Amino acid sequence: MAEKSINILGIETSCDETAAAVVADGRIVRSSVVASQTALHEKYGGVVPELASRAHIENIYPVIAEAMEQAQVDAGDIDAVAIANQPGLSVALIVGVTAAKTLSFAWDKPLVAIDHLHAHMQSAVFGEQDFALPAAALIVSGGHTSLYDYKSPLEPKLLGSTIDDAAGEAFDKVASILKLPYPGGPAIERIAKNGNPKAIDFPRSLLARDSLDFSFSGIKTAVLYYCRGQDMKGDNMVDAMSEETIADIAASFQAAVVDVLVEKTRRAADRISAKMVMLGGGVAANTALRNSLGQMCEESEPARKLYVAEKRYCTDNAVMVASLAYHKFKAGIFTDMTLEPKAHSEA
Ligand code: KG4
Ligand code: ZN
Repeated sequence: MAEKSINILGIETSCDETAAAVVADGRIVRSSVVASQTALHEKYGGVVPELASRAHIENIYPVIAEAMEQAQVDAGDIDAVAIANQPGLSVALIVGVTAAKTLSFAWDKPLVAIDHLHAHMQSAVFGEQDFALPAAALIVSGGHTSLYDYKSPLEPKLLGSTIDDAAGEAFDKVASILKLPYPGGPAIERIAKNGNPKAIDFPRSLLARDSLDFSFSGIKTAVLYYCRGQDMKGDNMVDAMSEETIADIAASFQAAVVDVLVEKTRRAADRISAKMVMLGGGVAANTALRNSLGQMCEESEPARKLYVAEKRYCTDNAVMVASLAYHKFKAGIFTDMTLEPKAHSEA
Protein backbone atom coordinates (compact mmCIF):
# COMPACT_ATOMS: atom_id res chain seq x y z
CA MET A 1 0.00 0.00 0.00
CA ALA A 2 1.28 3.45 -0.85
CA GLU A 3 2.48 5.47 2.14
CA LYS A 4 0.11 8.19 3.30
CA SER A 5 1.38 11.62 2.30
CA ILE A 6 2.56 14.09 4.95
CA ASN A 7 0.62 17.36 4.83
CA ILE A 8 2.22 20.36 6.47
CA LEU A 9 0.61 23.74 7.03
CA GLY A 10 3.29 26.43 6.69
CA ILE A 11 2.90 29.98 8.02
CA GLU A 12 5.02 33.03 7.18
CA THR A 13 4.78 36.55 8.68
CA SER A 14 8.40 37.68 8.94
CA CYS A 15 8.06 40.96 7.03
CA ASP A 16 5.18 42.38 4.98
CA GLU A 17 3.58 39.26 3.52
CA THR A 18 1.04 37.20 5.46
CA ALA A 19 1.28 33.75 3.93
CA ALA A 20 0.00 30.23 4.52
CA ALA A 21 0.38 27.08 2.43
CA VAL A 22 -0.35 23.39 2.59
CA VAL A 23 2.40 21.27 1.04
CA ALA A 24 2.34 17.47 0.76
CA ASP A 25 5.56 15.49 1.13
CA GLY A 26 7.63 18.64 0.88
CA ARG A 27 7.03 19.04 -2.84
CA ILE A 28 3.35 19.01 -3.81
CA VAL A 29 1.69 22.41 -3.39
CA ARG A 30 -1.89 21.86 -2.25
CA SER A 31 -2.41 25.58 -1.67
CA SER A 32 -0.44 28.81 -1.39
CA VAL A 33 -2.00 32.06 -0.18
CA VAL A 34 -0.05 35.31 0.11
CA ALA A 35 -1.61 38.56 1.36
CA SER A 36 0.83 41.28 0.36
CA GLN A 37 0.96 44.59 2.24
CA THR A 38 2.78 46.49 -0.51
CA ALA A 39 -0.04 49.01 -0.91
CA LEU A 40 0.05 49.71 2.83
CA HIS A 41 3.78 50.52 2.99
CA GLU A 42 4.18 52.08 -0.46
CA LYS A 43 3.68 55.67 0.63
CA TYR A 44 6.38 55.33 3.30
CA GLY A 45 8.93 53.87 0.84
CA GLY A 46 9.59 50.91 3.14
CA VAL A 47 8.00 48.54 5.63
CA VAL A 48 6.61 50.19 8.77
CA PRO A 49 6.84 47.44 11.44
CA GLU A 50 3.79 48.46 13.49
CA LEU A 51 1.58 48.70 10.40
CA ALA A 52 2.89 45.32 9.23
CA SER A 53 2.09 43.78 12.60
CA ARG A 54 -1.46 45.12 12.63
CA ALA A 55 -2.09 43.92 9.07
CA HIS A 56 -0.75 40.45 9.95
CA ILE A 57 -3.20 40.29 12.87
CA GLU A 58 -6.07 41.14 10.53
CA ASN A 59 -4.97 38.76 7.79
CA ILE A 60 -3.55 35.74 9.56
CA TYR A 61 -6.67 33.66 10.21
CA PRO A 62 -8.43 34.47 6.89
CA VAL A 63 -5.20 33.57 5.05
CA ILE A 64 -4.81 30.27 6.95
CA ALA A 65 -8.51 29.46 6.46
CA GLU A 66 -8.17 30.12 2.73
CA ALA A 67 -5.06 27.92 2.49
CA MET A 68 -6.92 25.08 4.22
CA GLU A 69 -9.97 25.56 2.02
CA GLN A 70 -8.01 25.71 -1.25
CA ALA A 71 -6.14 22.57 -0.27
CA GLN A 72 -9.46 20.95 0.65
CA VAL A 73 -8.11 19.73 3.95
CA ASP A 74 -9.21 20.08 7.56
CA ALA A 75 -7.28 19.84 10.79
CA GLY A 76 -7.43 16.04 10.74
CA ASP A 77 -5.48 15.94 7.43
CA ILE A 78 -2.63 18.11 8.72
CA ASP A 79 0.43 16.33 10.15
CA ALA A 80 2.33 19.34 11.47
CA VAL A 81 2.23 23.13 11.68
CA ALA A 82 5.37 24.95 10.54
CA ILE A 83 6.25 28.55 11.28
CA ALA A 84 9.12 30.83 10.21
CA ASN A 85 10.07 32.25 13.63
CA GLN A 86 13.38 33.91 12.61
CA PRO A 87 14.84 36.19 11.31
CA GLY A 88 12.55 39.14 10.64
CA LEU A 89 10.65 41.95 12.29
CA SER A 90 9.83 40.78 15.83
CA VAL A 91 6.42 42.47 15.86
CA ALA A 92 5.55 40.73 12.60
CA LEU A 93 7.00 37.31 13.46
CA ILE A 94 5.09 37.19 16.75
CA VAL A 95 1.76 37.13 14.90
CA GLY A 96 2.61 34.00 12.93
CA VAL A 97 4.31 32.33 15.88
CA THR A 98 1.24 32.89 18.07
CA ALA A 99 -1.11 31.57 15.37
CA ALA A 100 1.07 28.50 14.75
CA LYS A 101 1.37 27.71 18.45
CA THR A 102 -2.39 28.10 18.88
CA LEU A 103 -3.19 25.74 15.99
CA SER A 104 -0.55 23.23 17.06
CA PHE A 105 -2.07 23.16 20.56
CA ALA A 106 -5.70 23.16 19.45
CA TRP A 107 -5.19 20.48 16.78
CA ASP A 108 -2.67 18.50 18.82
CA LYS A 109 -0.16 18.53 15.97
CA PRO A 110 3.62 18.90 16.22
CA LEU A 111 5.11 22.35 15.75
CA VAL A 112 8.11 22.88 13.45
CA ALA A 113 10.29 26.02 13.69
CA ILE A 114 11.80 27.23 10.44
CA ASP A 115 14.52 29.76 9.69
CA HIS A 116 13.15 32.10 7.02
CA LEU A 117 16.49 32.22 5.14
CA HIS A 118 16.83 28.45 5.14
CA ALA A 119 13.31 28.36 3.72
CA HIS A 120 14.35 30.71 0.89
CA MET A 121 17.14 28.21 0.17
CA GLN A 122 14.63 25.37 0.07
CA SER A 123 12.64 27.18 -2.63
CA ALA A 124 15.71 26.97 -4.92
CA VAL A 125 15.54 23.16 -4.92
CA PHE A 126 11.79 22.90 -4.43
CA GLY A 127 10.39 19.89 -6.28
CA GLU A 128 13.88 18.64 -7.20
CA GLN A 129 14.90 15.22 -5.97
CA ASP A 130 18.24 14.37 -7.52
CA PHE A 131 20.96 16.89 -7.00
CA ALA A 132 24.61 16.69 -6.13
CA LEU A 133 25.68 18.42 -2.93
CA PRO A 134 27.41 20.40 -1.55
CA ALA A 135 26.00 23.59 -3.02
CA ALA A 136 26.99 27.21 -2.64
CA ALA A 137 23.67 28.91 -1.84
CA LEU A 138 23.13 32.64 -2.33
CA ILE A 139 20.15 34.14 -0.53
CA VAL A 140 19.36 37.71 -1.52
CA SER A 141 16.37 39.43 0.03
CA GLY A 142 15.24 42.79 1.35
CA GLY A 143 16.75 42.15 4.76
CA HIS A 144 19.59 39.70 4.06
CA THR A 145 22.37 38.83 1.67
CA SER A 146 24.02 35.59 2.68
CA LEU A 147 26.15 32.79 1.25
CA TYR A 148 25.89 29.27 2.60
CA ASP A 149 27.67 25.97 2.34
CA TYR A 150 24.62 23.74 1.79
CA LYS A 151 25.34 20.10 2.55
CA SER A 152 21.74 19.19 3.37
CA PRO A 153 18.46 21.04 3.92
CA LEU A 154 18.94 20.72 7.68
CA GLU A 155 22.46 22.02 8.10
CA PRO A 156 23.33 24.95 5.88
CA LYS A 157 26.47 26.66 7.17
CA LEU A 158 26.79 30.43 6.86
CA LEU A 159 29.90 31.45 4.90
CA GLY A 160 29.36 35.19 4.69
CA SER A 161 26.73 37.91 4.82
CA THR A 162 26.35 41.64 4.36
CA ILE A 163 28.13 43.92 6.78
CA ASP A 164 25.74 46.81 6.05
CA ASP A 165 22.83 46.97 3.59
CA ALA A 166 21.20 43.90 2.04
CA ALA A 167 21.09 43.71 -1.76
CA GLY A 168 17.31 44.16 -1.84
CA GLU A 169 17.58 47.08 0.55
CA ALA A 170 20.09 48.72 -1.84
CA PHE A 171 17.62 48.22 -4.72
CA ASP A 172 14.85 49.76 -2.61
CA LYS A 173 16.97 52.75 -1.50
CA VAL A 174 18.33 53.46 -4.99
CA ALA A 175 14.77 53.27 -6.36
CA SER A 176 13.76 55.85 -3.79
CA ILE A 177 16.68 58.12 -4.82
CA LEU A 178 15.52 57.76 -8.44
CA LYS A 179 11.93 58.44 -7.34
CA LEU A 180 10.76 55.06 -8.58
CA PRO A 181 7.90 53.21 -6.87
CA TYR A 182 8.29 50.80 -3.93
CA PRO A 183 9.35 47.97 -3.82
CA GLY A 184 12.39 49.14 -5.70
CA GLY A 185 13.76 45.88 -7.09
CA PRO A 186 11.10 45.23 -9.73
CA ALA A 187 10.96 48.96 -10.61
CA ILE A 188 14.74 49.17 -11.16
CA GLU A 189 14.75 45.96 -13.17
CA ARG A 190 11.97 47.28 -15.42
CA ILE A 191 13.67 50.61 -16.11
CA ALA A 192 17.17 49.10 -16.39
CA LYS A 193 16.01 47.21 -19.50
CA ASN A 194 16.12 50.52 -21.41
CA GLY A 195 19.48 51.63 -20.02
CA ASN A 196 23.17 51.02 -20.67
CA PRO A 197 24.75 48.95 -17.87
CA LYS A 198 28.17 50.35 -18.80
CA ALA A 199 27.12 54.01 -18.76
CA ILE A 200 28.39 54.68 -15.22
CA ASP A 201 31.17 52.80 -13.47
CA PHE A 202 29.68 52.42 -9.98
CA PRO A 203 32.00 50.84 -7.36
CA ARG A 204 32.02 47.07 -6.85
CA SER A 205 32.93 46.46 -3.25
CA LEU A 206 34.54 43.04 -2.88
CA LEU A 207 36.13 43.64 0.58
CA ALA A 208 39.22 41.52 1.37
CA ARG A 209 40.38 38.92 -1.17
CA ASP A 210 39.28 36.00 0.95
CA SER A 211 36.10 37.62 2.28
CA LEU A 212 32.71 36.13 1.50
CA ASP A 213 30.95 39.06 3.15
CA PHE A 214 29.14 41.78 1.21
CA SER A 215 28.88 45.56 1.47
CA PHE A 216 26.30 47.55 -0.50
CA SER A 217 26.23 50.86 1.33
CA GLY A 218 29.09 52.26 -0.82
CA ILE A 219 27.26 51.79 -4.09
CA LYS A 220 24.08 53.26 -2.65
CA THR A 221 26.06 56.36 -1.59
CA ALA A 222 27.74 56.51 -5.02
CA VAL A 223 24.30 56.64 -6.67
CA LEU A 224 23.22 59.31 -4.20
CA TYR A 225 26.25 61.49 -4.99
CA TYR A 226 25.77 60.89 -8.71
CA CYS A 227 22.19 62.13 -8.45
CA ARG A 228 22.69 65.01 -6.01
CA GLY A 229 26.29 66.08 -6.61
CA GLN A 230 29.23 65.72 -4.20
CA ASP A 231 27.88 68.56 -2.05
CA MET A 232 24.46 66.81 -1.90
CA LYS A 233 22.80 70.10 -2.84
CA GLY A 234 21.22 68.90 -6.07
CA ASP A 235 18.10 67.70 -4.32
CA ASN A 236 15.89 67.95 -7.38
CA MET A 237 18.37 66.82 -10.02
CA VAL A 238 16.47 63.60 -10.57
CA ASP A 239 13.35 65.56 -11.55
CA ALA A 240 15.34 67.20 -14.32
CA MET A 241 16.96 63.98 -15.58
CA SER A 242 15.83 62.42 -18.85
CA GLU A 243 14.24 58.97 -18.79
CA GLU A 244 17.35 57.78 -20.62
CA THR A 245 19.68 59.00 -17.86
CA ILE A 246 17.56 57.39 -15.15
CA ALA A 247 17.54 54.14 -17.12
CA ASP A 248 21.35 54.32 -17.43
CA ILE A 249 21.73 54.85 -13.67
CA ALA A 250 19.37 51.95 -12.91
CA ALA A 251 21.11 49.63 -15.38
CA SER A 252 24.61 50.57 -14.17
CA PHE A 253 23.61 50.15 -10.50
CA GLN A 254 21.99 46.77 -11.20
CA ALA A 255 25.05 45.59 -13.15
CA ALA A 256 27.39 46.54 -10.28
CA VAL A 257 25.28 44.70 -7.67
CA VAL A 258 24.97 41.64 -9.91
CA ASP A 259 28.73 41.58 -10.55
CA VAL A 260 29.46 41.53 -6.82
CA LEU A 261 26.85 38.85 -6.06
CA VAL A 262 28.13 36.62 -8.87
CA GLU A 263 31.81 37.07 -8.03
CA LYS A 264 31.28 36.27 -4.33
CA THR A 265 29.19 33.23 -5.19
CA ARG A 266 31.93 32.02 -7.54
CA ARG A 267 34.48 32.38 -4.74
CA ALA A 268 32.23 30.53 -2.28
CA ALA A 269 31.58 27.73 -4.77
CA ASP A 270 35.31 27.32 -5.44
CA ARG A 271 36.17 27.40 -1.75
CA ILE A 272 33.79 24.59 -0.79
CA SER A 273 34.25 22.68 -4.08
CA ALA A 274 30.54 23.06 -4.69
CA LYS A 275 28.93 20.73 -7.19
CA MET A 276 26.06 23.15 -7.78
CA VAL A 277 24.82 26.65 -6.97
CA MET A 278 21.49 27.68 -5.46
CA LEU A 279 19.77 31.06 -5.64
CA GLY A 280 16.76 32.26 -3.63
CA GLY A 281 15.15 35.30 -1.97
CA GLY A 282 13.28 38.29 -3.39
CA VAL A 283 16.21 39.64 -5.44
CA ALA A 284 16.53 36.20 -7.07
CA ALA A 285 13.52 37.26 -9.16
CA ASN A 286 15.91 39.59 -11.00
CA THR A 287 16.53 38.30 -14.53
CA ALA A 288 19.95 39.95 -14.90
CA LEU A 289 21.13 38.18 -11.73
CA ARG A 290 19.66 34.83 -12.79
CA ASN A 291 21.30 35.07 -16.23
CA SER A 292 24.66 36.24 -14.97
CA LEU A 293 24.85 33.60 -12.24
CA GLY A 294 23.81 30.97 -14.80
CA GLN A 295 26.61 32.07 -17.11
CA MET A 296 29.17 31.95 -14.29
CA CYS A 297 28.04 28.41 -13.44
CA GLU A 298 28.32 27.31 -17.08
CA GLU A 299 31.81 28.77 -17.39
CA SER A 300 33.08 27.13 -14.18
CA GLU A 301 35.53 24.25 -14.51
CA PRO A 302 33.81 21.82 -14.27
CA ALA A 303 30.49 23.46 -15.07
CA ARG A 304 28.02 23.67 -12.20
CA LYS A 305 24.27 23.46 -12.41
CA LEU A 306 22.30 26.45 -11.12
CA TYR A 307 19.14 25.78 -9.11
CA VAL A 308 17.04 28.87 -8.82
CA ALA A 309 13.69 29.41 -7.17
CA GLU A 310 10.67 29.79 -9.44
CA LYS A 311 9.89 33.50 -9.65
CA ARG A 312 6.64 33.15 -7.69
CA TYR A 313 8.59 31.50 -4.85
CA CYS A 314 11.45 34.03 -4.77
CA THR A 315 9.59 36.60 -2.69
CA ASP A 316 8.14 35.65 0.69
CA ASN A 317 5.69 32.76 0.71
CA ALA A 318 4.72 29.87 2.94
CA VAL A 319 5.33 27.05 0.46
CA MET A 320 9.04 27.29 1.23
CA VAL A 321 8.29 27.07 4.96
CA ALA A 322 6.06 23.99 4.67
CA SER A 323 8.45 22.36 2.21
CA LEU A 324 11.51 22.70 4.45
CA ALA A 325 9.46 21.60 7.46
CA TYR A 326 8.93 18.23 5.77
CA HIS A 327 12.65 17.49 6.16
CA LYS A 328 12.53 18.43 9.83
CA PHE A 329 9.37 16.34 10.26
CA LYS A 330 11.10 13.30 8.73
CA ALA A 331 14.09 13.87 11.02
CA GLY A 332 11.81 14.24 14.06
CA ILE A 333 12.96 17.80 14.79
CA PHE A 334 10.10 19.57 16.54
CA THR A 335 9.77 22.53 18.84
CA ASP A 336 7.44 23.29 21.76
CA MET A 337 5.24 26.06 23.15
CA THR A 338 8.25 28.02 24.42
CA LEU A 339 9.07 28.97 20.79
CA GLU A 340 9.65 32.70 20.41
CA PRO A 341 10.24 35.00 17.45
CA LYS A 342 13.85 36.05 16.95
CA ALA A 343 14.90 39.11 14.96
CA HIS A 344 18.18 37.43 13.96
CA SER A 345 19.01 33.92 12.80
CA GLU A 346 20.31 31.50 15.36
CA ALA A 347 22.02 28.65 13.58
O1 KG4 B 1 12.56 37.80 0.13
P1 KG4 B 1 11.73 39.03 0.10
O2 KG4 B 1 10.35 38.94 -0.48
O3 KG4 B 1 11.55 39.63 1.54
C1 KG4 B 1 12.55 39.57 2.51
O4 KG4 B 1 12.71 38.48 3.11
O5 KG4 B 1 13.20 40.62 2.66
O6 KG4 B 1 12.59 40.14 -0.69
C2 KG4 B 1 12.11 41.43 -0.94
C3 KG4 B 1 13.19 42.21 -1.66
C4 KG4 B 1 12.88 43.69 -1.83
O7 KG4 B 1 14.01 44.44 -1.43
C5 KG4 B 1 12.64 43.84 -3.33
O8 KG4 B 1 12.99 45.11 -3.85
C6 KG4 B 1 13.55 42.76 -3.89
O9 KG4 B 1 13.40 41.68 -2.99
N1 KG4 B 1 13.14 42.34 -5.23
C7 KG4 B 1 13.91 42.49 -6.33
C8 KG4 B 1 13.14 42.03 -7.43
N2 KG4 B 1 11.94 41.58 -6.95
C9 KG4 B 1 11.95 41.78 -5.60
N3 KG4 B 1 15.14 42.99 -6.48
C10 KG4 B 1 15.66 43.04 -7.73
N4 KG4 B 1 14.98 42.63 -8.83
C11 KG4 B 1 13.73 42.11 -8.74
N5 KG4 B 1 13.07 41.73 -9.81
ZN1 ZN C 1 12.32 36.70 2.60
